[in-house]
Amino acid sequence: MSEETSGRSQLRTLLRFGMQKLRQEGFASFVKGGIEHVRRLSVPKEAQSAFDRRYGTDTAGTIPLWKLQIRSPHHAEGVRYQASDPDFVRKAIEILQIPLERFVYIDVGSGKGLTLLVASEYPFRRVLGIEFAAELNAIAAENISRLIAPRCRDISSVLADAASYRFPTEDTVLFLYNPFGKDVLKRMLDNLRSVLEQNDHELYIVYSNPIFSQILDQSGFLERLDLPIGAAVYRHSPTHGVLQHDTRTHIHVVGED
Ligand SMILES: C[S@@+](CC[C@H](N)C(=O)[O-])C[C@H]1O[C@@H](n2cnc3c(N)ncnc32)[C@H](O)[C@@H]1O
Repeated sequence: MSEETSGRSQLRTLLRFGMQKLRQEGFASFVKGGIEHVRRLSVPKEAQSAFDRRYGTDTAGTIPLWKLQIRSPHHAEGVRYQASDPDFVRKAIEILQIPLERFVYIDVGSGKGLTLLVASEYPFRRVLGIEFAAELNAIAAENISRLIAPRCRDISSVLADAASYRFPTEDTVLFLYNPFGKDVLKRMLDNLRSVLEQNDHELYIVYSNPIFSQILDQSGFLERLDLPIGAAVYRHSPTHGVLQHDTRTHIHVVGED
């Protein structure tokens, strides 16, 4: 294939991907996401390089998902890879003021694993990443293997789709950096809810760049906390007993009738 033909084919893929996202997210969210994307591009670059220099890792860069091999029906709903600001992740963990030894930290859409590396600086019981792009997950595994003397020693990243992932029945801090659109978010919440029904436990969700926070606000089992951090933070506590009201999102999936 000539360079020109390959360039045209990449442009077609990009346009198809953009149109799909526009249809799925709606115009307002699409534009909001674009503005946020441009804003973030100018923020953490130096922080990212400093982080990579310190840990000897590779977490930097922005990678559009159309460049990656992803086997998931939810491919088009995914948001491109871009790492969080490490200082933001530290602040988000510290502001919760919870006994971290009791909690598993899970980054849903963990990419190259930056937040897993940051979380390993804290005494979590376990640190886990869920990522559906094989290339990113492999880089995350490589990054984890480079950690020297982390405080948490049980760190892993798994290749899985957040839409169908079965969450553990442990007290959990869930981190989301705007990884995907509404349908996957709803499916993930339904999965979380059914795990809580089976074995109720504490759950915190830190939702950074919370474009679809309304869905979490309306979940019926999460309470939004008012914390001075640029993210939407939620808590589910077994003592609240809100699981008695079923507010499941009932998604209709084409082909599953
Ligand atoms: C904005 S990046 C966030 C990376 C990382 N969480 C961080 O904060 O540094 C979003 C990530 O979510 C992943 N992703 C999107 N949809 C997903 C899905 N359905 N299941 C698993 N990962 C997904 C993308 O591949 C991408 O790596």
